[in-house]
Amino acid sequence: IPVDDFDLVIFGGTGDLARRKILPGLYRRFCSGQMPEHARIIGAARGEMDDAGFRDLIRDAIKEFAKKNDCDDEKIGAFLQRLHFVTIDAKGEGGWSDLRDLMRDGVVKAFYFSVAPSLFGDLAKRLHEFQIADDESRIVVEKPFGRDLATAKALNAGLAAHFDETQIYRIDHYLGKETVQNLMAVRFGNILFEPLWNAQYVDHIQITVAETVGVGGRGEYYDKSGAMRDMVQNHLMQLLCLIAMEPPSRFEPDSVRDEKLKVIRALEDIDHHHIVRGQYDATDTEQSYREDAGDPRSRTESYIALRCLISNWRWAGTPFYLRTGKKLKARTSEIAVVFKDAPHSIFGEDAGRHANVLTIRLQPNEGMTLKVTIKEPGPGGMRLIDVPLDMSFADALGEEADDIPDAYERLIMDVIRGNQTLFMRGDEVEAAWAWTDPLINGWEARNDVPKLYDAYSSGPEDAAMMLHREGRRWREVK
Ligand code: BG6
Repeated sequence: IPVDDFDLVIFGGTGDLARRKILPGLYRRFCSGQMPEHARIIGAARGEMDDAGFRDLIRDAIKEFAKKNDCDDEKIGAFLQRLHFVTIDAKGEGGWSDLRDLMRDGVVKAFYFSVAPSLFGDLAKRLHEFQIADDESRIVVEKPFGRDLATAKALNAGLAAHFDETQIYRIDHYLGKETVQNLMAVRFGNILFEPLWNAQYVDHIQITVAETVGVGGRGEYYDKSGAMRDMVQNHLMQLLCLIAMEPPSRFEPDSVRDEKLKVIRALEDIDHHHIVRGQYDATDTEQSYREDAGDPRSRTESYIALRCLISNWRWAGTPFYLRTGKKLKARTSEIAVVFKDAPHSIFGEDAGRHANVLTIRLQPNEGMTLKVTIKEPGPGGMRLIDVPLDMSFADALGEEADDIPDAYERLIMDVIRGNQTLFMRGDEVEAAWAWTDPLINGWEARNDVPKLYDAYSSGPEDAAMMLHREGRRWREVK
């Protein structure tokens, strides 16, 4: 179903994100017939370039970053005709009247700020000064949305000076992932799980986002953030919210975001025994984190594991273990809800006791597994074993699974539709920083040095110990 006609301006249109994600994503939407006949995409950046140069650049980007079987020269050619380019000076006057002349009236106007956050305020101001944006226009901003509460507040204030909150779309691309949205469908579309979804029946929850890539190439940015700012404050926090929140009354922007905010505000402070930070070590062939970061004394974490507690009626006392890291053994993102043991075993302790575990795999091999207990087949008496009730999206949906839009495709189309459900509200981002800041300040004040871990392992030994002390263990990263 095509969306309303639009003009989408991408500031930073020649940058990495635009080439890797935004434009290949829009191309896919174009191929699927969702882009209206006259919709246009206007790249804006500082460098001199004309429409033809921009189109060439994006042709190469699509060929490099879109899936091979999506690439069809004729279709790419037709898509490129929708592209235009304006050279613009974010801090000065240059190019703004050209942009205004190019924009059409009577269509949705969206402005994607794919630039350094330090330019957000300038762009917002110019869009108003030059009367390019109106009350219906939308702006889209990316992470990092600040590096602490103070900077996030300043960014929010810079945007709020010219745009209403209903016009601001803060992207967390994890919310655009099909499987992440599926978390809500699983929780609130089934009667089966919700009655058990609380401290009485859940022993603990593990949220894992493990990556195999290191920070090579992005060392300079990454070393100033670390895993806490780069992944936990945003992506893992969003996953935690969706898993822990109360049922919103409707799947509507503020209903959902109000509930997520309550979770963040209910997070307890964490003492340092429940935080493990790590850094990957060198291998025979690859550099260590410190070499990648270009700082032999860096104390930035490329891995973090935390035990979080949520102070509310539903979750009091239930640990949520979060971990994420670079250069780990496998690329895997999953949420595991580990239920408590049955209260009494009628088969006797020798039969074995097994907890149910619901695992939601976000990537790769998207799907869900429910570990259930059955009788071990055979005449050997009543012994219990675990078997998986397994569902993979690819099997369940067949060819349809190939058509699932990637996170950016979906989120950009939601911007055009004016649906903010999958975007973070300003107060949500600030609350997340308000929780993160004291933890970061705490380890900085202690001069905490991250523990080294072998590249392509499961992370530092201390993270395993943290759970071991509580009689639990991490799920294997595989
Ligand atoms: C980004 C982080 O936001 O998310 C990266 O800055 C990280 O460090 C990436 O690699 C992970 O995203 P995905 O979609 O590959 O899981």
